[in-house]
Amino acid sequence: MSEDLKASYLADLQTVTTLQELAQLKAKYLGKKGVVTLQLKTLGALSAEERPHAGKRINELKEAIESLSEAKEVELTHQELAKRLASESIDITLPGKTTGIGRAHPISTVLNEIIDIFVRLGFSVEEGPEVELDHYNFEALNIPKDHPARDMQDTFYVSDDVVLRTHTSPVQVRVMERQKPPLRFIAPGKVYRCDADVSHTPMFHQVEGLVVDTHITFSNLKGVLVSFVHQMFGPQVPVRFRPSFFPFTEPSAEIDIGCILCDAKGCRVCKGSGWLEVMGAGMVNPKVLEFGGIDPELYTGFAFGMGVERITMLKYRIDDIRLLFENDLRFLRQF
Ligand code: PHE
Repeated sequence: MSEDLKASYLADLQTVTTLQELAQLKAKYLGKKGVVTLQLKTLGALSAEERPHAGKRINELKEAIESLSEAKEVELTHQELAKRLASESIDITLPGKTTGIGRAHPISTVLNEIIDIFVRLGFSVEEGPEVELDHYNFEALNIPKDHPARDMQDTFYVSDDVVLRTHTSPVQVRVMERQKPPLRFIAPGKVYRCDADVSHTPMFHQVEGLVVDTHITFSNLKGVLVSFVHQMFGPQVPVRFRPSFFPFTEPSAEIDIGCILCDAKGCRVCKGSGWLEVMGAGMVNPKVLEFGGIDPELYTGFAFGMGVERITMLKYRIDDIRLLFENDLRFLRQF
């Protein structure tokens, strides 16, 4: 009987190809309801003389099955490992999968550079809303109702008293209202004007600057802006302050730098003048300080505002602003 069982086990074992099948086979013979287990249970029915002999035979069978299974298990484990190693092998000669790596847009690069320069000069960074009240965009900046800057042709009106801010100057008054002097901050951000050609886009970026303290003078303004230009464009670049007008500064100036394309000799870009305008600035109009809740008898200040696209175009010699917004990778990859 046990010889038959051993033979049938050996036959079954031949067909086993996986560890799972081996476990099933072992259960079939040695499990709770396995054939060998059932044999053991029949021992009780045998006579006292027969029992030890039969018991020994069954135990030998059990041990044989166990050791055969163990050997098979070792064999199958090796086989399965070999199979896995073969199927999971990596062809290290294949070219790797590459991920497209992005880079900062030139406007972001220049904006960050501008911010870094002013942070080194002790300025903090403030923000204001792009959808702005007429009050902050115009009124509190001393821009009266009939001023041409309010013209429907330049300003995107959301409603009668809400606009898309046309410059970052409204942040001046917003910060004055919430902070006490001394103030020394820049306010970078997007601004909107209804305008489009080679040097204008309906959305562009500005960086505003405001310093308010006791005894702030025009020479402080000059020192900060000349330092900025020299850090941005190089210490050899000449800077010129030209009288100008802004309702929110008095006196006002426009700041020109020597044309960096022709070394101030005169070219197409600077229209032969040798100078390029880079920003507006001036001493804060006392009326604006008052709108901001600051006593103009105690405090003075200066403000400036520059276009980031313009600085970017000068720095990288880009002659059409629209290139910055077309997102043509052949263009963007050059920076
Ligand atoms: N807001 C002005 C503009 O957009 C620039 C400016 C800012 C001028 C601060 C003077 C002082 O043209």
